[in-house]
Amino acid sequence: MRGLDVGCGTGRLTFWLAARARQVVGLDREPAAIKEARRLAEQAQVGNVDFIEADAEREEYHRFAPDIVTAHLCASDAIIERAARALRSGRCLGMVAFHVDQWKETGKVSRFAYDEARMERSLKAQGLVPEALEVEREVKRFASVEEGLAAAVGLEDAWRADGRWFRYIAFLEGGGRTLTRAHLIVRARKS
Ligand SMILES: C[S@@+](CC[C@H](N)C(=O)[O-])C[C@H]1O[C@@H](n2cnc3c(N)ncnc32)[C@H](O)[C@@H]1O
Repeated sequence: MRGLDVGCGTGRLTFWLAARARQVVGLDREPAAIKEARRLAEQAQVGNVDFIEADAEREEYHRFAPDIVTAHLCASDAIIERAARALRSGRCLGMVAFHVDQWKETGKVSRFAYDEARMERSLKAQGLVPEALEVEREVKRFASVEEGLAAAVGLEDAWRADGRWFRYIAFLEGGGRTLTRAHLIVRARKS
């Protein structure tokens, strides 16, 4: 089987697939991630992976002839459309998407986030039959503002850059004491 891992980052899922597939391609638009993934492949002497720098929302996937397409925390309608066009009947798309409730305390929904209904519509519109659509949710609860800040400390730089940080602080100062992680786990088959 040939796998295509879209938005592969440094290859966390790509290497998992490579241990189970004949050939796997990882696609990411970040040159630094692709460089590191190639370094890791060389270091671990994994011979059946290729890492390619490309925009997964513009590139078509036919040339990779995938039997399975995966996308871990990199889901969009453009990616679903391209996966559906490249997969043959009976082949699968497996995704973990941000759920719209992910970090809802920061008041900002990622453009990659879906709820169950929108995901189902997007899949069916492309001839993909949903076989599994599950929400994995974890709500951390804090006793104080300090505990809430400590829980987000690794996210501070990214949240400052995208405007979430000050809204999260306002949420905590306003009495909020939670932080939600929510992912939508998807398996769909090409009809
Ligand atoms: C949250 S990371 C997940 C990385 C990896 N799948 C993992 O689970 O470790 C999202 C990745 O998607 C990539 N990405 C986002 N939009 C993309 C696009 N249009 N084309 C290619 N890669 C994209 C980012 O560069 C980033 O590496």
